[in-house]
Amino acid sequence: MPALLMCAFLGQAATAATSAATGDPLAPSARWSAYSIGRAATPPMGWSSWNAFGTDIDEAKVLGSAQRIVDSGLAAKGYRYINIDDGWAIRRQQTDGRLIIRPDRFPSSTSDQGSSFRPFTDKLHAMGLKAGIYSDLGRNTCSQAYSPDKTDLPQGSVAEREVGLYGHIDQDIALYFADWGFDFIKVDGCGLRAYGANSPKVRAGEFRALPPVLDLQSVNRSDIAAVQAEFKEINAALLRHNPDGDFLLSLCVWGAANVRAWGKDYGSLSRTSDDITPAWTRMLTNFDSAVRRELYAHPGSWNDPDMLFIGKGDFDAGHLTEARSHFSLWAMLNAPLMLGTDLRSTAPALMEIVGNADIIALNQDPAGNQATLAYDADDLAILVKQLDSGDKAVAIFNRGLAPIDADLTAEHLKLRKDAQVTLTDLWTKADSTFTGATKLRVAPRETRVFRVHGERTLAHGVYLSEQPGNVNPAVDGVTRPQPDPSIFRSSAGWSGTKGAGERPMYAGWGGARADSTPYGQTLHIGGAGYAAGVGVLANSRLEVRNKGYGRLTAEVGVDDSARDRNGAVTFMIYGDGKLLSRSKPLRWGQPAQPLSANLQGVKIVELVARSTAGDNEQLPVSWGNAALLSPGH
Ligand code: GLA
Repeated sequence: MPALLMCAFLGQAATAATSAATGDPLAPSARWSAYSIGRAATPPMGWSSWNAFGTDIDEAKVLGSAQRIVDSGLAAKGYRYINIDDGWAIRRQQTDGRLIIRPDRFPSSTSDQGSSFRPFTDKLHAMGLKAGIYSDLGRNTCSQAYSPDKTDLPQGSVAEREVGLYGHIDQDIALYFADWGFDFIKVDGCGLRAYGANSPKVRAGEFRALPPVLDLQSVNRSDIAAVQAEFKEINAALLRHNPDGDFLLSLCVWGAANVRAWGKDYGSLSRTSDDITPAWTRMLTNFDSAVRRELYAHPGSWNDPDMLFIGKGDFDAGHLTEARSHFSLWAMLNAPLMLGTDLRSTAPALMEIVGNADIIALNQDPAGNQATLAYDADDLAILVKQLDSGDKAVAIFNRGLAPIDADLTAEHLKLRKDAQVTLTDLWTKADSTFTGATKLRVAPRETRVFRVHGERTLAHGVYLSEQPGNVNPAVDGVTRPQPDPSIFRSSAGWSGTKGAGERPMYAGWGGARADSTPYGQTLHIGGAGYAAGVGVLANSRLEVRNKGYGRLTAEVGVDDSARDRNGAVTFMIYGDGKLLSRSKPLRWGQPAQPLSANLQGVKIVELVARSTAGDNEQLPVSWGNAALLSPGH
């Protein structure tokens, strides 16, 4: 393995070791610890077989969509990963443990040399595309657990049907990447979820039991360390077998095991919820599972609310408003843009939507800032995304049933209210201007998206909350993960309305937020409100990448929403591991204390809020107006 790559990954391990060695996770690490070893500087774009075909896949279907991606010009716009999801494996050969591809479905895989995807990946690479494959953390996959019939499933003995990574990590990763030439792997989690000794299929002798360590309904019933340990092993194998570093690891544990706090440290993508379906309300659930996690996504480690379902159901050619919304929202979230429809027959109007270069550019913006919520209500959301050029993007999303005349203000955009703001509508391409505020009509289920040019409120710097891509909650203070109650709970899941409904289950409540407390309030310290800032629980450490700014300033204190009125919190700013500034111990109700640190030459800033009080959950703190200022300001 190239030394550089090894260092990159071991660097992360070393961070953990340092914290573990000192026993103090709040000690400065002087490094950026979020995942950055895969090829995901911007969110990956492409196509996946799952939403289009389920397990009923074959070479013609996959290559047909790949060809359309090239012919339609979508490849030139960035769609390049062609991913085979579940359903490609027929068995694990018992003589040597090698996986065998379904020969009837992938005819190019059979030759005298044995079963191989190399001819298939060669074809994709020759088309200028990349190739993705699917596996599972356990011995068996999701379709083996959940498919209603066995038509497309692996065949043979119990051992032959064990096509997942468990017990074969190094061998399979070598096969996929070194031998077969794949560039992307999605690792699903059903093997660690659905094969307990009591599951009917295990009891019937169809599969070997594997004690479940992932439980979607309960963080407490999940074994977080066990899941992390396997992803660590997979990463080590990926580094060993990818000398060119051209790989992506997509974690698929659906928001279970509190993965929304740590997925960013283990993979290029991390699913934040269970599967999307082509239903409007299910799209809302998946959107909500990622939209308040803006600080947990960065270049190299993105939130994944699942693949696009444009082309089916509520997002088909008869629902262009919904399809545009789905696409706009995924772009603003920096979600992977993975098409999930049979492109050979996709209607031109839908091809136009997913080919909107202006919307794609928001998703692929090199600054890598997920949009933040400037306005947050159950029926209307205003999302603002800071772009690399200094411009911004704004999306106004009407989730409800009636048209809304939305007020968009310069404050929402952190732009000066006395200077002209220019809006370019990225769907209609119309330009307009306003000063202070404007009204915009948004139809039911519509998302209006604009590129915005104006004069920044903070003329000589940037608020930390404007650049979430450079802020990593390495320790967010959450010690007892709780389900996020603000995620829309759709009735359009896999089991229809059987059972008791999907109760709040995706942990994440209490995580660090931009311009919000961890529990969704606006930021206040000692009675003073802050429109900009970072809200986080006490006993937290935020890493901030400094791209040449000269000074960090903030007004810090215990947030007024804290229920603990006695616990004292000390705020510290570190630069490359050295203490630069420290507050006095601050309690609820006290006025904010201004902190400032000189960042000359500093690459990694760390913001630590430390308390001796026992209960972080009751102690949200605010880094009010936290900002990086240009040298000389
Ligand atoms: C899980 C995943 C899906 C898909 C299927 C395949 O449900 O979440 O995205 O990969 O498995 O069986």
